[in-house]
Amino acid sequence: MPPSDIQEQLVKHLTDMHAIEVQAEAQMKAAPKMAGTEELARIYEQHERETEEHKRLVDERLEALGQSPSKLKDVVAGAGAVPFILFAKSQPDTPGKLATHALSYEHMEQAGYEILIREAERAGDEETREIARRIRDQEIAMAERIESHFDETVEASLRDQSPDDLEEQLVKYLADAHAIESQAIGLLQGGEKIIGEGELAKAMSDHLDETRSHQASVESRLEALGGSPNKLKDAGLRLGALNWGGFFKAQPDTPAKLAAFAYAFEFLEVGAYEQLRRVAARAGDSETERIASAILTDERAAAATIAAHWDDAVDATLDTRGIAATR
Ligand SMILES: [Fe+2]
Ligand SMILES: [Fe+2]
Ligand SMILES: [Fe+2]
Repeated sequence: MPPSDIQEQLVKHLTDMHAIEVQAEAQMKAAPKMAGTEELARIYEQHERETEEHKRLVDERLEALGQSPSKLKDVVAGAGAVPFILFAKSQPDTPGKLATHALSYEHMEQAGYEILIREAERAGDEETREIARRIRDQEIAMAERIESHFDETVEASLRDQSPDDLEEQLVKYLADAHAIESQAIGLLQGGEKIIGEGELAKAMSDHLDETRSHQASVESRLEALGGSPNKLKDAGLRLGALNWGGFFKAQPDTPAKLAAFAYAFEFLEVGAYEQLRRVAARAGDSETERIASAILTDERAAAATIAAHWDDAVDATLDTRGIAATR
């Protein structure tokens, strides 16, 4: 049953955050083994410890709100967090993909806490608001650490890969970018039903137009490099193999979750284009480098626009459910 008041909504969202942290912990345990560099391995290990603390803090708030730990176990597999969990279970196969995935996941967590902060405000729950802010700041800091290591992850990814022909690698990165844009189009189109009207809806619809033009730019570079439509199809399949597929199977069901999901997705794109840009530079393909940089600017702007509307997304979610704020 959907929550019927702000307290229930808060408990439900805390429960989702619990599930997200459980998955984050599993990921952070697995990440150091394929981090690509020792420093990154340490960064993931350090965040595993932070993640344990996040889970503990979330659980404490749940208990304070009358939820027993045994009940929590049952809801971990609950429907609310399904898209997040499917995403978390994916297993990236290069240091670069791992970094991209981790970057996106940290921003998913950030978004989850942005929403929690605002729901706690509306419920007048000062303690929950405070821990949500504290954890949010750590998720942002972790995302920034990942972002500052893309040179190293690209280096490590190319080192391990065959073929060692850079141009062939570049075609693979372009094909992945093409596949990601296809998924972005699907996500934004599907979101139109959920997001309603208003500024956030407008921003997403504008970004859908942009996304189509990104895909066209990527396609033109693929053609210039001799990537056939056949290869594009392969990339679509390979996307499943990277297991980013899970990200897209489940549709978020509220404006707040859609916004969180779309926000995290922008950073999946950011990670992909940060790498594409570097691989293109190494291959001496300045046109692809230019296109990747231009698209990056759009993806970051789209993320910033979503982030400017957390309040709207939360209000729209409470509205749809007929939930009034406590104050
Ligand atoms: Fe966390
Ligand atoms: Fe995190
Ligand atoms: Fe995008």
